[in-house]
Amino acid sequence: MTVMQKVPEARPHSAFLDGKTKRLLIDGNWVEAASGRTFDTHNPATGEVLAKVAEGDAEDINRAVDAARRAFEGPWGRAKPYERQALLLKLAELVERDFEELSTLDTLDMGAPISRTRGNRLRVLGMLRYYAAQAVSILGETIETSLPGEYFACTLKEPVGVVGAIIPWNGPLGATIWKIGPALATGCTVVLKPAEEAPLTPLRLGELCQEAGVPPGVVNIVPGHGETAGAALAAHPGVDKVAFTGSHLTGQKIVRASAGNLKRVSLELGGKSPDIVFADADLNAAVPGAGMAVFANSGQICSAGTRLFVERRIYDEFTARVAEYGRGLQVGDGLNPATQVGPLVSAEQLERVTGYLNIGRAEGARPLSGGERITDGPLARGYFVPPTVFADVHDEMRIAKEEIFGPVISAIPFDDVDEVIARGNATTFGLGSGVWTRDVAKAHRVARGLRAGSVWVNCYQTMDPAVPFGGYKMSGYGRESGRQHVEEYLNVKAVWIKTG
Ligand code: NAI
Ligand code: MG
Repeated sequence: MTVMQKVPEARPHSAFLDGKTKRLLIDGNWVEAASGRTFDTHNPATGEVLAKVAEGDAEDINRAVDAARRAFEGPWGRAKPYERQALLLKLAELVERDFEELSTLDTLDMGAPISRTRGNRLRVLGMLRYYAAQAVSILGETIETSLPGEYFACTLKEPVGVVGAIIPWNGPLGATIWKIGPALATGCTVVLKPAEEAPLTPLRLGELCQEAGVPPGVVNIVPGHGETAGAALAAHPGVDKVAFTGSHLTGQKIVRASAGNLKRVSLELGGKSPDIVFADADLNAAVPGAGMAVFANSGQICSAGTRLFVERRIYDEFTARVAEYGRGLQVGDGLNPATQVGPLVSAEQLERVTGYLNIGRAEGARPLSGGERITDGPLARGYFVPPTVFADVHDEMRIAKEEIFGPVISAIPFDDVDEVIARGNATTFGLGSGVWTRDVAKAHRVARGLRAGSVWVNCYQTMDPAVPFGGYKMSGYGRESGRQHVEEYLNVKAVWIKTG
């Protein structure tokens, strides 16, 4: 690991950080929380406070849901596909104009390297333009029925209504667009609750929605805590659907809270994804591939390939090479363009990850690289954990079963294809997975065998607005991106007309 000692003078900056308290966006107005309370949001690279943010709770959620309902029942509910498309294209233009600021805000608020947040450009703009295309591509069906007599039967697709969106902190810009995009495409309205760790980019996007001409009440943004604002949104009888991304434990609470009005729920939760390296793989590609499958975003990615299965005859060589690759990555303040691995998002997340580092050692796993928090030099102020590779990991260890959400690889040897498929599937989760091999038949066999929403072959973590992403098992249900995503925001209505 190379520690960056110095951050260059010309630090990227955002005019959004003007010292003023950031307010809630409700019904087209920026307002204080009803309680008057605020909370601080921090830069995890330095611990400094970036801004005070109004702390929404149940009362603010009520106001926002009421506004979203009125907007849904008003002219927005009758907006033509072209109008929704034009709004999304305008928003894409504004996000493109201000992309440097938005990526800087993401880096400041949650720590990801600026190279990574800038690197999201293609995907973020692509998402908005993909949803713009979907806005004019909503199709029902005409159906031949077998009834005697003459009937015309067809389906209409209608927006589900008011959507409560609850997002995590690990990629605020992309996560916000992933919720707002399909809502605008279909004619829904949204109350978005950002994560308390990283509310700034969603709030700035709220300003851009206004500038784009999104009508009041169509997009509302209410930062606040999970147990208060989040729980109120999940339980609200005026919400028709909740779109949630976060931990499986909170996902279970959302499902329980949804029971009151049986609202629709989609869940994108965590994982303990297997990444499988066969001895016949192109190891020069597999080493960085398997490394960045976990070290990217400091491991704070739901589909990170954290269970690294390596064919036994290359296990020692391969794990040593991944550890060496991890040591070569530049750890530092995300604002430095050379940084490859930033801090963890918060003190809580640091505690959680270092807790697992201790658990791993106590269970008998052997750290080949990293393994401890950085406690000296300028990075000691922030929440930095270097890329860590644990060898000698067994399937039953906690570090092989539980989501750590840090830059920690648990490397496990295996001997043959059927065995590794079975062991790869021996988890309650099923989000991502990877296979590295030159043998196309083997790759396909493993891709068929794994029970996960995505299988990456000779690559990892590639994402595209047109390709569905989501979980099997306890990684959740529903899909984001792709045509399936838009369907999640639509109801199907059958219409029968007696024609004879
Ligand atoms: P979390 O799942 O508790 O938080 C995600 C969002 O849910 C935040 O906006 C939070 O305010 C909200 N929330 C929390 N409790 C809620 C409730 N009772 N009702 C409604 N909304 C609620 O995750 P957290 O605490 O940020 O991280 C803990 C662990 O969860 C991480 O270490 C990681 O393992 C996992 N996680 C997984 C993510 C993923 O993308 N799959 C994202 C974030 C965390
Ligand atoms: Mg923050």
